[in-house]
Amino acid sequence: MSLGKLPEKFRKLDLQQRQEQVRLTFNPEQEEWQAVAADSGLSDLADIMVESAIGSLPVPLGIATGFLIDGEKLSIPMAVEEPSVIAAASYAAKILNQGGGLSTWGGQSLMTAQIFLEGAAPEGEHQLRRREEQIGTLVDRIQPGMKARGGGFRGFELSRLPESDILVVGLRIDVRDAMGANALNTAAEGVKSEIESLSGGRAVMCILSNAARERRSGARFSLPVSKLSAAAAAGMEAEEVARRIVLASRIAEEDEQRAITHNKGIMNGISALVLATLNDTRAVEAAAHAWAARSGRYQPLSTYRLRGGSAESVGEQLLEGTIELPLAVGSLGGAVGFHPASRLALRVLGFPGAQRLARIAAAVGLAQNFAAVLALVTGGIQRGHMKYHAARLAYAAGARGKEVRRVAEAVANEGQYSPEAAAGILRRLRREGKA
Ligand code: MEV
Repeated sequence: MSLGKLPEKFRKLDLQQRQEQVRLTFNPEQEEWQAVAADSGLSDLADIMVESAIGSLPVPLGIATGFLIDGEKLSIPMAVEEPSVIAAASYAAKILNQGGGLSTWGGQSLMTAQIFLEGAAPEGEHQLRRREEQIGTLVDRIQPGMKARGGGFRGFELSRLPESDILVVGLRIDVRDAMGANALNTAAEGVKSEIESLSGGRAVMCILSNAARERRSGARFSLPVSKLSAAAAAGMEAEEVARRIVLASRIAEEDEQRAITHNKGIMNGISALVLATLNDTRAVEAAAHAWAARSGRYQPLSTYRLRGGSAESVGEQLLEGTIELPLAVGSLGGAVGFHPASRLALRVLGFPGAQRLARIAAAVGLAQNFAAVLALVTGGIQRGHMKYHAARLAYAAGARGKEVRRVAEAVANEGQYSPEAAAGILRRLRREGKA
C-alpha cells in the first residue's frame, strides 16, 4: 500500500524519474495519467518552466466569437473549466454588437516596485529626494531594454508607514509590453544598496506592488434598450429587462456580498483570457479585488445605468455599462509568448501589445458580467447550466463524440438528470442505432 508520500529529494530527480515516482506512489488510472503526461514535449516544457513538474494541466481552451471592440472584430481565447463562460461571452458580444460593440480605454503600463527601509532618518529621506535623477539613471542602466523600448524610470514616491516608521520608496517604472514583475524586482534589487547608502536606512525587502493602480483599463457599451427584446424571455418587456439590470447594478453597489459575486462573474471572463495567454491570473485577481475595495467598502467593478436616447435612437433609452480596473498583463515575457499555447492565444487576438490586451480584457470582463446579470434578472442562470450538466452526465455514462450531444439532449428533454438515467438513455440510443 502506498503511503502517499514522495521522497524528499523529489525535486532533484529528473522529469522521467519524477513521473515514475508519481506513478509508483499514487498509481493513477491510465486516463488520469494520460491527461497530464501524455505529451512528452509539453512535459519537457513544463519541466523548464516550474520546479518539480510532472506534466501539464489541460484546462479547456475555447474561443468566444463575435466581439466588436473599438470597431475591431475579435475572437477571444478563453481557458476555463466552468461550462457556461465562453457561451455567455459570445452571447453578450452578439447583443452588444447591436449597439456598436464595446469601446475601451487604458493608461500606460506604469507599475511600482517598493523598497522598504528601516532606520532611515529624515535627513536620509531628504538626501534620497534630492537624488531622484541619480536613482533613475541607475534603474535605466539596470534595465536598458525597457528604456530602449520607450519605457523605464518614471520617478519615485516616498512615504512613511505610521506605525513601523518604515520609509517606503516606490519606484515607478513604465514596463511597456511586459507584465513587469521581473523587471520591477530586478530594478528594485539592483538599486537597493544605492538607496540604502543615500538614505542611511537598511532595506527590509524589495518587491513590486501588484496593486497596479496606474495601469487601469476600462470599457463601456451603450445599447438601445429595444435591443434587449430578444433576450427578454418569459414575457418580459425589453424596458423591464433594462430596469432590472440597472437595479441589479444598484444592488451590487449596496450589498457587498452581491458585489463579490458580481465581480466573480467579471473575473470569469477576464481570468479566462488572462490564463489563455498565460499571464499571471493571481496578480490580476489580487489587483482587481483590491481596486474594488479601494473606498473601504467592496464595490462592483462595473455599473449599469439608463440614459436618454441619442440622435440615432430618438426617444429611446440607452442601457450603458461601464467597467474599470487595474489590468497588469503583458504581451511578452515570462510564459507569455514563450509557451506555444500562449502564442496561439495571442495569435487569435492578432498579437496585441500589452495595453491593447488589457483593454480587450476589460471589454471581455464587462461583456461576461452583462451576460450573467442579464440571465440573472430574466430566466436565471440554472436553465443554461443544466445543458452542460446533461453533457457531463452523458460523458460520464460513456458517451463519446456525437453521442454526447444526443444523450445530453435526451437527458434534458426527459428531465432525467441522473447518472443512471444518462446510462439508460445511452444504452437505449445505441440499441436503436440513434446514438
Ligand atoms: C457564476 O460563475 C457567475 C455568476 O454568479 C456571476 C453573477 O452572479 O453575476 C453568474
